Amino acid sequence: MSTGRSFYITTPIYYPSDVPHIGHGYTTVAVDTLARWHRQAGDDTWMLTGTDEHGQKMLRAASANGVTPQQWVDKLVSESWFPLLKTLDVANDDFIRTTQERHERNVQTFFRALYDRGYIYAGEYEALYCVGCEEFKPESEILDGSGPFEGLKVCAIHSIPLELLHEKNYFFKLSEFAEPLLKLYRENPDFIRPESARNEVVSFVKQGLKDLSISRSTFDWGIKVPWDESHVIYVWVDALLNYATAVGYGSDPDEFARRWPAYHVVGKDILRFHAVIWPAMLMAAGVDVPRGVFAHGWLLVGGEKMSKSKLTGIAPTEITDVFGSDAYRFYFLSAIAFGQDGSFSWEDLSSRYQAELANGFGNLASRTTAMIERYFEGVVPPAAEYTEGDLAIQRTVADAATHADAAIERFRIDEAIDAIWTIVDALNGYITQNEPWALAKDDAQRERLGTVLYTAAEGLRALAVLLSPVMPEATEKLWVALGAAESLGRLHDQPIREAGGWGILRPGTSVNGLAPLFPRVEQHA
Ligand code: ME8
Ligand code: MG
Repeated sequence: MSTGRSFYITTPIYYPSDVPHIGHGYTTVAVDTLARWHRQAGDDTWMLTGTDEHGQKMLRAASANGVTPQQWVDKLVSESWFPLLKTLDVANDDFIRTTQERHERNVQTFFRALYDRGYIYAGEYEALYCVGCEEFKPESEILDGSGPFEGLKVCAIHSIPLELLHEKNYFFKLSEFAEPLLKLYRENPDFIRPESARNEVVSFVKQGLKDLSISRSTFDWGIKVPWDESHVIYVWVDALLNYATAVGYGSDPDEFARRWPAYHVVGKDILRFHAVIWPAMLMAAGVDVPRGVFAHGWLLVGGEKMSKSKLTGIAPTEITDVFGSDAYRFYFLSAIAFGQDGSFSWEDLSSRYQAELANGFGNLASRTTAMIERYFEGVVPPAAEYTEGDLAIQRTVADAATHADAAIERFRIDEAIDAIWTIVDALNGYITQNEPWALAKDDAQRERLGTVLYTAAEGLRALAVLLSPVMPEATEKLWVALGAAESLGRLHDQPIREAGGWGILRPGTSVNGLAPLFPRVEQHA
């Protein structure tokens, strides 16, 4: 068991009404990378992901396919959502499904607690609902339809017609929480990140909050309201509670105390649920609010938010089948500033793969190990006297490690990768400048050649450790090729906050043949 501080991080739980696309994969690999970093730093880390299986969207998807909703989610989860984690090399600690008993029972416990504390009442409601969002839409997200939807009101996010619902519902007194929430945002400026997301939420809450309808009575695919079986609990209330039920809320107080509160990483489409409704629910129940909510941007395809419902969805396997899971992870996490929108294109992906992975990092690894094999019979040479140029590399490595860790603390994976990449660039320049192939021709330069190749190999050791949360597969191959697995132990056991040190790779260990880390790929059609 780890002795470090608790670090509990979550992805949204996705709707398995359909198969995953690269947007779901993006959030998941970002969270996995943050979790891997913290785990490797010795923090008491827990990563949760899962699926959100109730609600009207699921019911309709199932009936369109002629099966029950339970059959539909079982099929999609086992055939598509579990495999996604393998496809993307994700090391989650748990996977929660909202149809699991451990969840349903404790959602009812929580709902009952809100009721007992006086935050739930019965009322009447009429408003426009988007089944895509599973939400009664605020004025600002209702548009006039055009084309086939002329004369109808449509959802600004899904561009599908809204449905006018008139029901008797139970309500949550969300309106009482505008002030407490504003106080939370004020006293904890990092509660919502990035800053643009924070500003948006603050101005939304400043306009005041309406009470929230939190039950539905016109269908029954959901968790029953404990005291009124004619209602099911609103799917978002059910879904948000996954973060708590998965770590023992209502069932395992020790585990809950150990893990909670969480950091939530979500797309900006669902920021308000996480930064407004969720902390208000927790305050009402007397449970600690999350540590923070980070909202990332949208992947855009052809300038629009990529989505299945708009038929712009790209399956993650389309990318991993060609480029591999490491390239998928590296590409999305480095090419897009975490927190901003980013446009996906095959051209950008291929050119970054070629320039940064194959020619930059991959080539550095291949030529360094090949030269150690050629000039030192495959044994890592010792360094002799360090020159100013060698010491500059050592400083680059130390600074990169420090900056990367600081960037990860701020959830800026892209900035962490940028910092780490200064090592790749510096070492490639260093090799060009020091020309080991020329030193090798002169016996008098034998020690100097050893120093240069030790410096390159030790830099690669740091790169393997620092990049392992981003690219677990390639860094593992590199680790083995450097002979480090034998002398230093497993890669993911290397303390990441000490990766910037120098002299960790031991001279005298054997380098093993390294196949290209990022082989040439056939151009995507
Ligand atoms: O909203 N760009 O599930 P969902 C980037 N079940 N990320 C994207 C994306 C895109 N174009 N499209 C989707 C739900 N995502 C609820 C969540 S949580 C208690 C319940 C990612 O299947 C992003 O993380 O619609 C977004 O927030 C999430 O998928 C929405 O997934
Ligand atoms: Mg969605």
